[in-house]
Amino acid sequence: MGIATLALPALAAYVIIVWLILPVFTYFRDPKGLRKYHNLSPLSGMTDFPYLYLNSQGFRSKSITEAHRRLNSPILRIGPNNLSFGDVKAIRDIYGHSTPCLKDLKYSITGGPHPNIFDVVDKPKHSEKRKRLSAAFAIKNLVDWEFKVADTTARLLAAFDKRCTEPLPANRTTPAKADLTIEFNHWINLFTIEAINIIALSSRLGVLEQGDDLVTAQRVDGTTYQTHYRKAQNQSAFATSHFIWDYGNFHLLAQLSQIFPKWRQIWRNAEPWRDVIYHQAITRLDRYKNGEKLDDFFTSLMENKSGEPYNLEFGEILGDVGAVIDAGADTTAIALTQVLELLIRHPAHMETLRDEVDAVLDDEVVAPFEKVRNLPFLRACLDEAMRIIPPTSAGLPRRTPPEGAMIMGEWIPGNTSVSMTAYTTHHDPTIFPAPEEFQPQRWMDPSERKRMEPYFIPFSTGGRGCIGRNISYLEQTIMLASLVHRYEFALPSPDWKLKRFEAFNLLMGEMPIKIWRRTPGNPLVS
Ligand code: HEM
Ligand SMILES: *[C@@H]1O[C@H](CO)[C@@H](O)[C@H](O)[C@H]1NC(C)=O
Ligand SMILES: *[C@@H]1O[C@H](CO)[C@@H](O)[C@H](O)[C@H]1NC(C)=O
Ligand SMILES: *[C@@H]1O[C@H](CO)[C@@H](O)[C@H](O)[C@H]1NC(C)=O
Ligand SMILES: *[C@@H]1O[C@H](CO)[C@@H](O)[C@H](O)[C@H]1NC(C)=O
Ligand SMILES: *[C@@H]1O[C@H](CO)[C@@H](O)[C@H](O)[C@H]1NC(C)=O
Ligand SMILES: *[C@@H]1O[C@H](CO)[C@@H](O)[C@H](O)[C@H]1NC(C)=O
Repeated sequence: MGIATLALPALAAYVIIVWLILPVFTYFRDPKGLRKYHNLSPLSGMTDFPYLYLNSQGFRSKSITEAHRRLNSPILRIGPNNLSFGDVKAIRDIYGHSTPCLKDLKYSITGGPHPNIFDVVDKPKHSEKRKRLSAAFAIKNLVDWEFKVADTTARLLAAFDKRCTEPLPANRTTPAKADLTIEFNHWINLFTIEAINIIALSSRLGVLEQGDDLVTAQRVDGTTYQTHYRKAQNQSAFATSHFIWDYGNFHLLAQLSQIFPKWRQIWRNAEPWRDVIYHQAITRLDRYKNGEKLDDFFTSLMENKSGEPYNLEFGEILGDVGAVIDAGADTTAIALTQVLELLIRHPAHMETLRDEVDAVLDDEVVAPFEKVRNLPFLRACLDEAMRIIPPTSAGLPRRTPPEGAMIMGEWIPGNTSVSMTAYTTHHDPTIFPAPEEFQPQRWMDPSERKRMEPYFIPFSTGGRGCIGRNISYLEQTIMLASLVHRYEFALPSPDWKLKRFEAFNLLMGEMPIKIWRRTPGNPLVS
């Protein structure tokens, strides 16, 4: 008798008991009293599969927001042990500085052998890492990073100058296909990739001159190969997001998916991401060991301000390098693509912005930060775009402490996964009237801004909020001001739509545009 004849029925019995009978049994036994909450789907109380399905549909935070509204329910059960909150009162309790909740198990599952600043759960360990990196992110240093951002901006503009077209003829509303010479999302990703690698690692990849994302990756054994930086990062995020929402079965589902050639290919495309980070980190470490003195984030992982070394293990350094270059590129690229799209679609706002920027700039090509950092309408446009479409829309999962926690005045039992999506918060009509409309002017009245700010959470909030917020504003402010000062833009057509897929961040498809110079002149060269 073959092993298979015994193993198959055993496997079938296992699947039936663990995936069917136990969940149903636990659902009715209801040990945590979660059955009183509305279910996202009729099966959500028993299994994570409805959520996995929702995720595969593309924009889960928007769907969750709609479900809260449809069911008129501020608390939704989105999995057997998982609650989504739909009322802004929950933000402070789940994410605020004094929350007793920690990052949920998800972060440990996707984290590497050395937890990094982004996925580490333990509070003291996180504080230690955060303190080390904060030195590099402090506002004082922002000015030091400006020249890196300005230089990278000039390199992008040089590439755009080369691809400029003739002005759109007055008798046309849509550009000729041949004039859509720039895929903006592609180029702006090359910009944010280049910017974060320069700021964090003093590494100039050259992707802006190449026009594509081909870079060197390196295996642990030292061998190197060429790979596509952005594609690897993007596919890694895309693949992970499909299976992560059943934490316990993530590795199993990821393995099983490889039965299908399509998924085998996706995982294969994702694999080099690890080796890209490794190459970037090891190359920078070698420069450090060779005594090169560089001003970047990496230095603050190696030594304190008095030059006293921390002597961290390489695994820990590698983890935090990965966290910063992972978190620091596609998010800002999404924000910039989004704000440009919205401005092209709202010519009156584009004009207001241009007038504001033109008034402070002379013949500079790259906007000096000092001149544009406090322009209120510029900042309003950036914030309004991140409000409508938060680049990280996701309900960032947190876990209640073993003894339970009060959330929104409601006692939630221990070890429960809780979250509230930024998308839901940003689309709450009691906070942001006409939430679907792009209205930068809503941010212009200082008292209104003050009222809305606690509920404006694209960078999350509290102790685990984004550490790169100010760097991102630095990049976005300089880039947007420089772009609208120098160019005019057109989308393919009025009914053209941006494609999105929500992984951890809200991944975007292509945005082909036509651009031309506002005042003809000599192209930049680089
Ligand atoms: C528009 C751009 C950005 C957005 C929307 C954004 C959003 C976020 C959000 C929502 C979190 C919390 C994640 C969670 O709770 O799981 C976060 C954390 C983080 N972000 Fe950003 N981010 C942006 C840009 C950046 C940049 C430019 C950097 C690096 C320079 C960066 C580095 C980080 C790091 C290291 C963390 C983890 C912080 C911690 O746990 O202490 N981010 N970001
Ligand atoms: C638009 O105007 C140009 C001349 O300015 C002319 O050559 C062209 O045929 C016109 N196109 C259309 C679609 O009317
Ligand atoms: C990133 O993933 C999304 C979702 O699959 C896809 O639409 C987009 O084209 C991808 N971009 C790149 C550069 O791979
Ligand atoms: C809900 O939380 C449990 C663990 O508490 C986890 O296994 C599961 O994957 C989570 N599901 C979702 C949809 O977040
Ligand atoms: C750097 O570390 C040394 C040794 O731990 C300490 O004496 C010094 O005060 C630290 N300097 C700063 C600026 O933190
Ligand atoms: C929460 O987890 C802790 C440690 O894993 C366990 O001792 C406790 O019984 C759990 N509490 C609940 C309510 O599940
Ligand atoms: C960002 O800058 C503001 C001042 O504009 C400062 O209060 C804040 O602490 C800075 N945030 C981070 C994360 O560095």
